[in-house]
Amino acid sequence: MSQLTIALNKGRILKETLPLFAAAGIEPLEDIEKSRKLTFETTSPDVRFLILRGSDVPTYVEFGAADVGVSGKDTLLEHGSQGYYEPLDLGIAKCRLMTAGVVGQTTKPGRIRVATKYVNLAKRYYAEQGRQVDIIKLYGAMELAPIMNLADEIVDIVDTGNTLRANGLEPREYIADISSRLIVNKASMKMKHKQIEALIDAVGSAVLEQAAA
Ligand code: PRP
Repeated sequence: MSQLTIALNKGRILKETLPLFAAAGIEPLEDIEKSRKLTFETTSPDVRFLILRGSDVPTYVEFGAADVGVSGKDTLLEHGSQGYYEPLDLGIAKCRLMTAGVVGQTTKPGRIRVATKYVNLAKRYYAEQGRQVDIIKLYGAMELAPIMNLADEIVDIVDTGNTLRANGLEPREYIADISSRLIVNKASMKMKHKQIEALIDAVGSAVLEQAAA
């Protein structure tokens, strides 16, 4: 068997991903949360985990530095779909991608400023709507931008809506449903077909079991 490298998204997605791999018989040999290491051997001798920042997962998989990855659909929509397949919706870390603005303020006519970390995705979305926008790239705390008059709107993920409410914002337009996906490098899918097919089956069963629980 050849070595299979799986790139995982650290943080919230990781917490929901590990039980699915555990149900598929793959568990890290040490506690990822308690270590500064970035690679982890697993109970499956031919599988190792890489722990990455979310936006780096599709890059590792696209270039074949990892065979498989787990990534939020928001990150994939921003990255673009080249170089990998997306065979499995893991049904975890579910949320919605929305536009949002200050409570009670209606959308300004004409050109508006939009703050987001999803620059490519936001450009595509507003272009499809026939709207003229200037995109301002931020790396976090997007919810602050409209209140501080940095932007008229934001594009961000919304789960409970608590972060919007706590910052005087409200959701405006729905863009997409988001959940985490299993992605596979295109060459790996050919070269390591049996191994990856077995992994997709095992994790897929865990997803179904979790949905039924
Ligand atoms: C995300 C997102 C919002 C928040 C939405 O941030 O950017 O700020 O969650 O969740 P809510 O609707 O339940 O309040 P996250 O905590 O993932 O951190 P990030 O800013 O690093 O993306």
